Amino acid sequence: MTSQTIAGASGTFAIGGDLPVNRLGYGTMQLTGPGVWGEPRDPQAAAAVLRRAVELGVNFIDTADSYGPYVAEPLIYRALAPYADDLVIATKAGFTRQGPNKWTPVGRPEYLRQQTEMSLRILGVERIDLQQLHRIDPTVPLEDQVGELKLLQDEGKIRHIGLSEVSVDDVEAASKIITVASVQNLFNLARRDAEPLLDYATERGIAFIPWFPLATGKLLGDGGPLAELAAKHNASASQLALAWLLRRSPAMLPIPGTSSIEHLEDNLRAAELELTDAEYDELTAV
Ligand SMILES: NC(=O)c1ccc[n+]([C@@H]2O[C@H](COP(=O)([O-])OP(=O)(O)OC[C@H]3O[C@@H](n4cnc5c(N)ncnc54)[C@H](OP(=O)(O)O)[C@@H]3O)[C@@H](O)[C@H]2O)c1
Repeated sequence: MTSQTIAGASGTFAIGGDLPVNRLGYGTMQLTGPGVWGEPRDPQAAAAVLRRAVELGVNFIDTADSYGPYVAEPLIYRALAPYADDLVIATKAGFTRQGPNKWTPVGRPEYLRQQTEMSLRILGVERIDLQQLHRIDPTVPLEDQVGELKLLQDEGKIRHIGLSEVSVDDVEAASKIITVASVQNLFNLARRDAEPLLDYATERGIAFIPWFPLATGKLLGDGGPLAELAAKHNASASQLALAWLLRRSPAMLPIPGTSSIEHLEDNLRAAELELTDAEYDELTAV
């Protein structure tokens, strides 16, 4: 396997049935300042991480208007435009920001439209490949929120629509109005609450995008739960965590986040790591 195609070794999944991506992608939340707020300390280094990801075969990048806010999307544009034909950028709308680590959902249709228009402008694209409702706003009827995304899709501004942090019931309710192409929920070896949603998505060909696939790094490190197994299998802890996710479902599209090229390269090597049944079971039992 050449380094150029390393992400390709994770296999492909067609989002919405017609948008193929290498399953091991990259999440951009770590590219902003602390608390997902403001500019990164070193914007050149952030751009270098993005370019290296694409060089290594990543063609699925997850971002959001609210990362920064308006920091991750412009970084993607500056680092990667003009985009490779096969690059799929998934963004999100529906979270407002009040400061570092502060997030408030706003799902009013006019806001979702504004933010979709802003993402089109900032990413420099005519259509967003995958627009995800970042959170369902409990104060706004669901049909108004997904209904507005459907209107934007009908207008040709969004290709596919996804949901984030949802239940099976939410997906079923939204499916009365839209075709749900993806769901993005917290999921990793240590947090598997979203298992029913994962199984539901897998059965229906809906992409499952696990956020915090590395438990924000807590699964890693010398004293972490994977350290011993990693030493035994001659792999890094992050590779084991990601290989386990990839093996767990063919619809799984992990988007590990990092601000470091070294960590990026380490993570992407998980694509080439084939777990035996015994190794998979051993990890499942962690
Ligand atoms: N839908 C949602 O509500 C939602 C919420 C959160 C995140 N997300 C998405 O999910 C993506 C992934 O989540 P995440 O980035 O927050 O968490 P993550 O992927 O679980 O972990 C990232 C953390 O792990 C560290 N790390 C990464 N690779 C490493 C390695 N090989 N060795 C050691 N440390 C490593 C990173 O630090 P370094 O920078 O030092 O490598 C960072 O602190 C985000 O980027 C974002 O796109 C979505």
